[in-house]
Amino acid sequence: MTQSVIPVNLPQNPYEIAIASDGIDRLGSWMKSLHLGKKAMVVSNPTVFGHYGKRAIESLKDAGFQVSHYLFPDGEEYKTLDSIRGLYDAALEAKLERSSTMVALGGGVVGDMTGFAAATWLRGIHFVQVPTSLLAMVDASIGGKTGVNHPQGKNLIGAFYQPRLVLIDPTVLKTLPEREFRAGMAEVIKYGVIWDGELFGQLEAAETLDRIEHLSPELLREILVRSCQAKAEVVSQDEKEAGLRAILNYGHTIGHAVESLTGYTELLHGEAVGIGMVAASRLAVTMDLLDRSCDDRQLALVQKAGLPTQIPQGVDFDAIVAKLQTDKKVKDGKVRFVLPTAIGKVTVTDRVTEDLVRSALETLR
Ligand code: NAD
Ligand code: GLY
Repeated sequence: MTQSVIPVNLPQNPYEIAIASDGIDRLGSWMKSLHLGKKAMVVSNPTVFGHYGKRAIESLKDAGFQVSHYLFPDGEEYKTLDSIRGLYDAALEAKLERSSTMVALGGGVVGDMTGFAAATWLRGIHFVQVPTSLLAMVDASIGGKTGVNHPQGKNLIGAFYQPRLVLIDPTVLKTLPEREFRAGMAEVIKYGVIWDGELFGQLEAAETLDRIEHLSPELLREILVRSCQAKAEVVSQDEKEAGLRAILNYGHTIGHAVESLTGYTELLHGEAVGIGMVAASRLAVTMDLLDRSCDDRQLALVQKAGLPTQIPQGVDFDAIVAKLQTDKKVKDGKVRFVLPTAIGKVTVTDRVTEDLVRSALETLR
């Protein structure tokens, strides 16, 4: 059994990201070593629970925990306050206490909602992340952003609330749908562009990136370790997104606009981020911030991951430009873009004009 442990060095709430191929079966003993109370509630959805619920619960029981579970329906459309209400009722019924722990077993939807419920139930109980999608492993489970959607926008209701442990078992990725795997790979490529040029090089050296079974176990481990390290380092330096953390939004500005304009149904989040990264890199070339060869290299990686690189037909540029104004990162009416300046390096700028955005978008039709 191989194991990697990555620290998240937050001054108030330090914790570890553990990557272990038998992680689910060691959940109980790991939590016990952290003294996370006597009661644990496993929160999941029927899809993920059907695959891994029994093993997670057995591991917790073997370690002496009293275990209950609660399942949200599967899907982003259920990431709502109404769903959280159901979890509060279950927490009441299970008599969870301040010292008890909610364990999120699932993708980013389950993780974000469970974290929010844990942050608010009894004004905060322990919370452990067991991410099961690639996107949740490398991004959503780390850094303490928790929350739910409002009918008017994604993730508008939420709290920063850090987990006590992130436990990643890479073997669970074998049941993740291929399209979801590719969507997670977009965030991995993002770390290569914004932070870790060596990771980018490793991805370039791989023959293909579009399916889990095409990756060697060594490359998968490198991808997980380096991505988690990147996120942990950024979050440790800027927990509440006062500055540096904004670089994690690379590809998300135009990505979010396209995702929203296609009604959140046509594209997965990671797919929209892939398009957004291609657009942002084009912008950087137009503004003489980035060498064209770097733009070509990024495009080749996004394509190798089987991700879309064109703006979908029917999404018009005026609508994208208008949508950018509603981005969460708009400050004093100015849209702030994260743009690459080299492989492994980005800058944040509010000097991107509408004309520049339009000409970058033209190259993505
Ligand atoms: P998701 O949670 O909807 O999971 C995708 C699908 O894969 C679901 O149907 C799920 O049931 C299934 N699944 C997950 N793991 C599986 C496995 N091992 N085997 C079989 N099926 C599996 O989507 P996601 O991409 O994981 O997360 C997206 C959510 O994460 C969004 O709500 C987004 O806002 C949020 N997010 C949060 C952060 C953060 O920092 N908190 C960062 C990025 C994204
Ligand atoms: N996913 C962006 C962040 O955690 O800040």
